[in-house]
Amino acid sequence: MAEKLRCAVIGTGGIGLEHLSSLLQCPRAVAVAIADQSPNRVKEAAERFKIPRSYTDYHDLLDQPDVEAVTVAVPNNLHAAVAVDALHARKHVLLEKPMAVNAKEAARMVEAAKKSKRLLMVGQNFRFHRQTQHARMLIERGELGELYHARGFWLRRSHIPRIGSWFTQKQFAGGGCVCDLGVHVLDLCLHLLGDFDVRCVLAQTYGKFGPRGLGEFEWGKSEVDPKKPFNVEDTGVALLKLRSGKSVSLEVSWAGHHAPDQRELGVDLLGTEAGLSLFPARLYRPGVNGLETVHLATPAVPHSEDRIHHFVTCVLQGRKPLVPIEESLKVQQILDAIYASAASCKEVRIG
Ligand SMILES: NC(=O)c1ccc[n+]([C@@H]2O[C@H](COP(=O)([O-])OP(=O)(O)OC[C@H]3O[C@@H](n4cnc5c(N)ncnc54)[C@H](O)[C@@H]3O)[C@@H](O)[C@H]2O)c1
Repeated sequence: MAEKLRCAVIGTGGIGLEHLSSLLQCPRAVAVAIADQSPNRVKEAAERFKIPRSYTDYHDLLDQPDVEAVTVAVPNNLHAAVAVDALHARKHVLLEKPMAVNAKEAARMVEAAKKSKRLLMVGQNFRFHRQTQHARMLIERGELGELYHARGFWLRRSHIPRIGSWFTQKQFAGGGCVCDLGVHVLDLCLHLLGDFDVRCVLAQTYGKFGPRGLGEFEWGKSEVDPKKPFNVEDTGVALLKLRSGKSVSLEVSWAGHHAPDQRELGVDLLGTEAGLSLFPARLYRPGVNGLETVHLATPAVPHSEDRIHHFVTCVLQGRKPLVPIEESLKVQQILDAIYASAASCKEVRIG
């Protein structure tokens, strides 16, 4: 494959710089332009990564006819506007998670992608993790039998992205730890179950640390306004029932007094023939001397691709991505249902 995809990055904050790094290492891509509303951040990134063209208005970047694809790493409330504009400009789009701040905006993007016939993919990086790919292989081989429950958790003790940044304001972020961390483990549970058809959700959210100025962590490059109230959740729990009868439980915290010796992040799957945990990867099953635990230290899969490299390959080869946009839309509907259930104290049905 000789051709290289001409890419640009919109948003050169914390994760946008990682996008640039990844693009520069991608043999099938070339990073030709960047945009960020902050003149300082965009200048710094252009100098550091030697990007020839930089813009403070992303529309100017989208006007560049040679740019074929963009990766979008701006605050969550801007995902839909930037992605739709990019798709209208006939660019392929790799979008950061969460897809949007609500399912209505996510659906708008899916529509725009269909109309423009361009690829729209959410960069759910955990799907590309070697352990995930190994788990998928074992599941596909039938080693777990029939899967019936997944538990996903990410329980950080003190990890609120800077209080007063866009991350901690509902109007910009859409929510707190559930849409920031929870979206990763939720997506992973459903991906491994191979089933995104959720029937109903019962959830609760809490804001117990952020409002007291506690549990903060230094993440993100955007400006902080200490006067802005913390009005998102720093813990969330949810139980999801799928139409197939399977279930998913979710526990997420940016901050909380969690046991320090427990796994902070993980997915546990229950199957009729075996159980499987990720992070670390282990298989639990009957052995000759009773129940055995198999440590899956060396994944028997050939490789796992970086999400950005995967996106580039999918565009160039017209391949179906590992993260189909219809699944990301369903994840967004579930996030909406989690917040609706927490607000109403009721079970929320989807579809
Ligand atoms: N995949 C992951 O693991 C992961 C990790 C962190 C963040 N993220 C996601 O990446 C996105 C960005 O997060 P971040 O941590 O980089 O935030 P950040 O605050 O560090 O960076 C956001 C950047 O967007 C820029 N921006 C804001 N409005 C803009 C506009 N109109 N036009 C152009 N640029 C604009 C800001 O100036 C800033 O530089 C979020 O959606 C977040 O959820 C994903």
